[in-house]
Amino acid sequence: MGKVLIITGGNKGIGQGICEAYKNNGYQVFSISRSQLLADSSQNVNYIQFDLQQTKDVTAVLEEILMGLPKREMDSITLINNAATTGPIRRFEETSSADIEKVISLNVVAPLMLTSGFIQYTKGWNCRRHIINISSGAAINPLAGISTYCVSKAAIDMLTKSIALEQAGNSGNFKIISVYPGLVDTDMQRDIRTSNSTHFPEVKTFREFKRNGDLAGKYDVGNEIYHIDHNVLVTNGSILDLDVYRYSTQKLHAVPSIT
Ligand SMILES: NC(=O)c1ccc[n+]([C@@H]2O[C@H](COP(=O)([O-])OP(=O)(O)OC[C@H]3O[C@@H](n4cnc5c(N)ncnc54)[C@H](OP(=O)(O)O)[C@@H]3O)[C@@H](O)[C@H]2O)c1
Repeated sequence: MGKVLIITGGNKGIGQGICEAYKNNGYQVFSISRSQLLADSSQNVNYIQFDLQQTKDVTAVLEEILMGLPKREMDSITLINNAATTGPIRRFEETSSADIEKVISLNVVAPLMLTSGFIQYTKGWNCRRHIINISSGAAINPLAGISTYCVSKAAIDMLTKSIALEQAGNSGNFKIISVYPGLVDTDMQRDIRTSNSTHFPEVKTFREFKRNGDLAGKYDVGNEIYHIDHNVLVTNGSILDLDVYRYSTQKLHAVPSIT
């Protein structure tokens, strides 16, 4: 078992596309989500059923996975913080405290804990250690109706930047980056499209994205994220927009980071 991916939300949407790409490239995959992907009988994917909003047990779940790995035989280990939710789509003053807490638990607290636990536990491992935070353009472009989500993605980008700085002096085998996947055809996009304009003023635009075929496929995006993870030109602390990355690697052979 030389190559391992640990991912949150690998059973659906973009996470499923990412799992497929890593699996096809010889990775052993551990996916944490509330439900399992029953259709996948692959030996290379382990689905761990866990609600990441139960933050007090998040580190224990990660440690159980890491404890089972033969650290001396490892070539590469990647943690991808992918699972997230918009929460109920509505104006902020109509959002309950419980819903704010749920979004922040899943989108921020769980990735923070997994990142901390991952760095601590794998310290001294003589293999490539990468963390990818799946962020969003919503980190820098505010959207009315999903304020807590926007806040959570800005927080994830700051996690990437501050941890990159903290780990910069350590061995070259560590890297943390954020990726904005762009518009991808998943349940999250469906939920946004089926909201109403009172709660989400931009809903028409998102319906048009779907109508115009502007949404990328989850497997294509999964492959692209796999390639970003293995692209040596991508530096520690990069914040990458997949739309820009796609264009620039085709046309410019360079990797522009947002910051
Ligand atoms: N789709 C887009 O256009 C788009 C654009 C920008 C950024 N993103 C980002 O891309 C990532 C994936 O989004 P997506 O569109 O693939 O979303 P999705 O289709 O809604 O999938 C969300 C994933 O998170 C898991 N999840 C949700 N709540 C969970 C919980 N409490 N505990 C554990 N797992 C949980 C889900 O599995 P279970 O339901 O089984 O738990 C599922 O695997 C997110 O970070 C999102 O912000 C997406």
